[in-house]
Amino acid sequence: MSLIEAAAGVRAKAHAPYSGFRVGAAIRSSSGAVYLGCNVENAAYPEGTCAEAGAIAAMVAAGDTRIAEVAVIADSPDPVAPCGGCRQRLREFSAPDVTVTMANLKGATRTMRMDELLPEAFGPEQFDGR
Ligand code: THU
Repeated sequence: MSLIEAAAGVRAKAHAPYSGFRVGAAIRSSSGAVYLGCNVENAAYPEGTCAEAGAIAAMVAAGDTRIAEVAVIADSPDPVAPCGGCRQRLREFSAPDVTVTMANLKGATRTMRMDELLPEAFGPEQFDGR
């Protein structure tokens, strides 16, 4: 199963009753494991979480910390663009050359590098020297 197919599978489980916009995300980590997330909205709107945030949480909970590849899918006219906040979230665990493949249900895809999606990014190396 491709990473996009995995993202499409978890998208079906999204809890998006307010926006109606279901999103699925799949992360392959450096260990080869795949972690899935969908958006989970809340009646208190700002408490909702993005699909990417869910996939990152699953990865970290499993003890993985390095992202190798990302796929995101939604029913958008063009391949879905991760929101700005999720670009920052993904960047925390990604090298600059990690690719994010964006997709929609029509089969369109676009793949971009992390450093294209979030150039001149703020990251931990800018203050803790790790
Ligand atoms: N959403 C995501 O899950 N990921 C993104 O990168 C873009 C936006 C969700 C949040 C909200 O539940 C819905 O899409 C509409 O904004």
